[in-house]
Amino acid sequence: MMAKEGTQREFLPYGRQRVTQEDINSVCDVLRSEWLTQGPTVPLFEKQLSATLSSKPAVACSSGTAALHLAMMALDIGPGDAVVTTPITFLADANCARYVGAEVRFADIDPETACLSPDALERVLAQDPDHRVKVVIPVHFAGQPADLPRIHSLAEAHGAVVVDDSCHAPGAWYEDGGTRYGMGASPHSLMTVFSFHPVKHVAMGEGGAVLCDDPDLLTRLRAFRNHGITRDDPVFDDMAFDENGDLNPWYYEMPRFGYNYRVTDIQAALGISQLGRLEESVNRRNHLAGYYRRQLEARFPDRTVRPLMLRTGVRHAYHLFVVRIDFDKHGVSRSKVMRRLREAGIGTQVHYIPVHLQPYYRQVSGAGPGDYPAAEGYYQQALTLPLYPQLEEGDVDRVLDELGAALIE
Ligand SMILES: Cc1ncc(COP(=O)(O)O)c(C=O)c1O
Repeated sequence: MMAKEGTQREFLPYGRQRVTQEDINSVCDVLRSEWLTQGPTVPLFEKQLSATLSSKPAVACSSGTAALHLAMMALDIGPGDAVVTTPITFLADANCARYVGAEVRFADIDPETACLSPDALERVLAQDPDHRVKVVIPVHFAGQPADLPRIHSLAEAHGAVVVDDSCHAPGAWYEDGGTRYGMGASPHSLMTVFSFHPVKHVAMGEGGAVLCDDPDLLTRLRAFRNHGITRDDPVFDDMAFDENGDLNPWYYEMPRFGYNYRVTDIQAALGISQLGRLEESVNRRNHLAGYYRRQLEARFPDRTVRPLMLRTGVRHAYHLFVVRIDFDKHGVSRSKVMRRLREAGIGTQVHYIPVHLQPYYRQVSGAGPGDYPAAEGYYQQALTLPLYPQLEEGDVDRVLDELGAALIE
């Protein structure tokens, strides 16, 4: 998009939601209905999510973080257990283990993809002779599928299960043994977690979901989402049933301890409408990412600015477009480059500060600088550039022109 002369150029953030008139109509329909909190639209959203992803059944909840916490509770993870995740992710993947009193261990990344490295996972599991590791949480970082088949076989051999964090990757898939598996439909994980935060592919304001096909786990997830309450299979028959053996109309029971992690019908209506554009959005993101990749190759043949590697046999969902920049070679700091880009109307971000370097995790896990060299090396060079469906190729040119200028000391 060329700016008209004399006008301010549009600010390009690193990510941006898209809300259409159709989305607004869908939300307004719910606002005119009887239900505002979790009502009939939430199960419709859950069905629509599974249908769109051709996936396992879904339990919707209030955020991706809540979804991770629900997964830990449903699996009965607690004190004495350990959870392995990657240092290059959002805090929630580690925090969910701490919510239930479990220990967090990190396994380093593959520096080319920034996803959990199966080799590093193998080393971490080898140092767990009492098999305290019960869950492995790989993250499909930036939208690219992690190596789930290998991660699953390592976890399974250790007696642990895989909960994959697909918050960046709805619509992504990978091939294994000639079969294509979409996120949420993989036999290589027990549960898959999504977020519907506004910068994600499907925006609901806040929202999340756990996908799983184990009926018992689904029941537990639904109960934990609502304070642990259930009306099925009561423990106290004398309180639950009337003289004819029918369930008392008011009766509910709390056999387990849960939370209010419900999502509202208002958010679900927005989600249903947004899901209709998921495929188009992932296609558009792939198109723009392809353009970024070709331009980067042409503009930086010395590879001092290079995208993360695209694995073969996968479809990337491109939640983020991350480049690795050799700031030392360019002789300019990342901080200066980000400030210059902001002045030029380009928003960038760093995904992520390695979780093990956060003060809390240094304190509880004893981790520190140098412990996960691939993650720390990646972090020194990472920069997320603008990517969202409304961008044009001309915007990508503008981002790369300004980046090239910002890198000159
Ligand atoms: C990889 C990853 N996991 C989990 C979450 C948590 O999702 P939410 O913000 O919906 O709680 C996020 C969101 O930022 C994320 O990027």
